[in-house]
Parts: sequence; structure tokens; C-alpha cells
Amino acid sequence: MTSGRAQSHERGAALRVTDLRVRVALSPGLWGVAHREVVRGVSLEVGRGETLGLVGRSGCGKTTLMRAMLGLIPATGAVWVGGHDLLRLRGRARRRAARSVQAVFQDPGGSLNPSMTVEEAVAEPLVVHGLGGSREDRGRAAMEMLERCGIGRELRRRLPRELSGGQRQRVAIARALMTGPRVLICDEPTSALDASVQAQIVNLLMDLQRERGMAMLLVTHDLGVVAHMADRVGVMDEGELVEAGSVAEILESPRHPATKLLLAASSGTLAS
Ligand SMILES: Nc1ncnc2c1ncn2[C@@H]1O[C@H](COP(=O)(O)OP(=O)(O)OP(=O)(O)O)[C@@H](O)[C@H]1O
Ligand SMILES: [Mg+2]
Repeated sequence: MTSGRAQSHERGAALRVTDLRVRVALSPGLWGVAHREVVRGVSLEVGRGETLGLVGRSGCGKTTLMRAMLGLIPATGAVWVGGHDLLRLRGRARRRAARSVQAVFQDPGGSLNPSMTVEEAVAEPLVVHGLGGSREDRGRAAMEMLERCGIGRELRRRLPRELSGGQRQRVAIARALMTGPRVLICDEPTSALDASVQAQIVNLLMDLQRERGMAMLLVTHDLGVVAHMADRVGVMDEGELVEAGSVAEILESPRHPATKLLLAASSGTLAS
């Protein structure tokens, strides 16, 4: 973590998650429905302008944690953003606070409405949140954001299926930024893309974060991406955050067995 980032972090976390827990129902058995806790008391903080990389083996609960933070599945604990606990808010207050936390997922095809054009998809968050003035104003704002994300005017009337994977991910990023979020959650944002496009998307996310000072929570299985993008790293195992520290601490002197396993599994991809 650079000193500038450390200082902004000290001014208060943009995102603070405390004791987040998610229970899921297992298929019914002889003695009724059993439950399993798949996120088991996770607490973490991300400062303004800071990137926290979240890693852990497949099935350890990373996506479930993200979905719980976004209010997409029931959870207990607290998710503090801008002085509000998102898990406690309802109705209009919840929607207003939800503007500050946006997400980009692995499969941009799945997160974009197949029947909406690029421009409509990117303008839609302004409609949903009652922002952005007239239809023309919203269209203009959408085009500006799309251009910032590397999508030219000529693509604005295309449907998601008429775009490449990298273009779709750029559209998804533009859409996520339209409400001016304080926190951007990215769940495997480059895993579905080929290597050359991955690097472009990683660079775009880093540039946008620097410009806007967002806090970023970056879930990835790719330790190379973490080494490149993150200030700090958290390691999850079986629903718990088992280790956290600076990128150098975690990648160079891991303590927890789960971290050591991850590093051993990815040795060779960490040449950078
Ligand atoms: N709705 C659900 N019902 C039952 N089990 C679930 C449900 N959602 C998630 N799980 C289980 O919770 C665990 C965590 O899943 P999750 O998708 O969060 O893992 P992950 O860390 O994102 O994995 P990956 O790296 O493969 O994306 C898994 O064991 C999964 O099978
Ligand atoms: Mg996942």
C-alpha cells in the first residue's frame, strides 16, 4: 500500500463489513431441511481509492459474500457505506444507498439485458435511480461514460449478443459507474476474457478507480491480477476470512495453510 493510499484509508473506510454471515438450505433429508453457513462471520474494510483483493479456492464463499453485500441474498451482520448499514435499510432509503455500491460480474452477458441496446443499458441506472434529467441528457451521459470505457458511438445501438466479450465487459463497467458509486465490487471481472483483453480491462478498472477514488473489492482466483491491482489481499477459506495483509505480506510471506496452497497452485502465473 502506498503512503497516499494509506492516508486516504485512515480517513475512514468507504466500505466496512462486519460479521457477515450467510446460511443456505441444503436439500431436505430425513430430519427436515438442514442449513449450512457458507459465509461465516466475515469482517473487512476497504478505504477510499483502495483495492482489496479477495482470493480463495473455488467454493470458499467469495461470490456468496459479494451477493450478500449487494443485498441479493439474505444475510446477517452489517455492510456500512456512507454512514448507512445497507442490510438494515428498506425501500427508498435502501435504493438510494444502493447507488453507492455497484458491481461488475464475471459474465457480462448474463448481467446485461439481452433486449436492451448498449446505450439503453448504460442509461438505465439513471432511470432506475431517478437521476440524469431528460432522455437526451441520459443518452448523452451514457455515451460519455461508454467512450470513457472505450466503446465508440458506432456501437451504441448494438445488442449485447452483437458485441465481443471484452466489449460487453466494458459496457457492464460503464453501466456500473453511471450512479457514481463509492464502492465497486468486481467478481472475477476478467476470468471470462482472453489474455490480451484481460489486461485491457484490468487497466481500465485501475484508471477509472484512480480517477474516481472508488473503493474496490476485487474477487479473483488470479493472483497475478491481485498482485497487479490490489493494495491489500484477503484470503477466504471455507466461508471465513483467514488471512489479510498487504500484497507483499500475503504473496511473499503467507502464514495460513490456505494461502500457501493458493500460492503453490498458482506458482508460475506470478512471474510479474
Ligand atoms: N443457494 C445456495 N444453496 C446451496 N449452496 C450454495 C448456494 N449458494 C452457494 N452455495 C454453496 O456455497 C459455497 C460457496 O459458493 P460461492 O459461489 O460463494 O463460491 P466461490 O468462492 O465464489 O467459488 P468460485 O471461485 O468457484 O466462484 C459453495 O459450496 C456453494 O456450493
Ligand atoms: Mg465465485
